[in-house]
Amino acid sequence: MRIDLDGRRALVTGSAQGIGLAIARTLAACGAAVVVNGRSEETAQRAAADVREHVPGCDVLGVAADLATDEGTAAVLDAAPHVDVLVNNLGIFSSADPLAIDDATWRRYFEVNVLAGVRLTRAYLPGMTERGWGRVQFVGSDSAVVIPAEMIHYGVTKTALLGVSRGFAKAAAGTGVTVNSVLAGPTHTGGVEAFARELVGDDLPWDEAQRVFMREHRPQSLLQRLIEPEEIAHTVAYLASPLASATTGAAVRVDGGYIDSIVP
Ligand SMILES: NC(=O)c1ccc[n+]([C@@H]2O[C@H](COP(=O)([O-])OP(=O)(O)OC[C@H]3O[C@@H](n4cnc5c(N)ncnc54)[C@H](OP(=O)(O)O)[C@@H]3O)[C@@H](O)[C@H]2O)c1
Repeated sequence: MRIDLDGRRALVTGSAQGIGLAIARTLAACGAAVVVNGRSEETAQRAAADVREHVPGCDVLGVAADLATDEGTAAVLDAAPHVDVLVNNLGIFSSADPLAIDDATWRRYFEVNVLAGVRLTRAYLPGMTERGWGRVQFVGSDSAVVIPAEMIHYGVTKTALLGVSRGFAKAAAGTGVTVNSVLAGPTHTGGVEAFARELVGDDLPWDEAQRVFMREHRPQSLLQRLIEPEEIAHTVAYLASPLASATTGAAVRVDGGYIDSIVP
């Protein structure tokens, strides 16, 4: 099977680093024209340069926009009025004592992790259904199902995205547009590496340190190592492709077996 996204335009939100940047590189490598996004001009352009370096000759545009705001959303829609593939990757996380999470923090998490993707889906879905082809994806998390006690404000937004994704899939039924979520498990991003180092210390080489981190702090993982961002990106690229035409309304797991369930 060859994943061919030639002639398709993809937007990956929150893609200045981490999983989003890996997704942007992979989609570009499959032939898509890609729009990357970060909050500042510097991070957006750095991401665009990174994709160009990884995929020489690709069509990539960096857009600076805070997608938690109407203005930021308008800036992205202005820069990319039509996309064929929308990857709602943007998501923030932090750990906090559940009793200390105030209303402002709950609202912020809802705005960034849920509403930003809802707003863009609402804007792009009609064009996709009109053209008879499109792919919308939400990058979810194991935390949607296994709510972490120290991250309920994060986990709950990811649970919400499962409903959002399933609901938009129904809205697009029979149109040739698919809508899915991808449940990522613990992934080797800069933020997660720093967090693992905090818990395990700096003495061990990274490969060993991450195995200790997983064994002691993420024992549910069947993979017993962090997932590399590219491994998430491969599934996103497949779901973005014409090959995945019969998968819609689904939550597809790339979680290293973290969620203890025998059903998808
Ligand atoms: N890392 C994991 O282990 C893991 C596991 C499961 C699921 N996930 C999910 O995967 C997705 C990506 O996570 P990640 O760890 O790769 O993220 P990350 O490394 O923290 O990167 C976040 C990106 O989002 C951008 N960003 C933040 N706020 C923004 C806003 N309001 N508007 C536009 N861009 C914004 C940042 O750009 P600037 O630098 O310009 O601010 C940055 O590029 C998230 O949805 C996360 O919940 C991650």
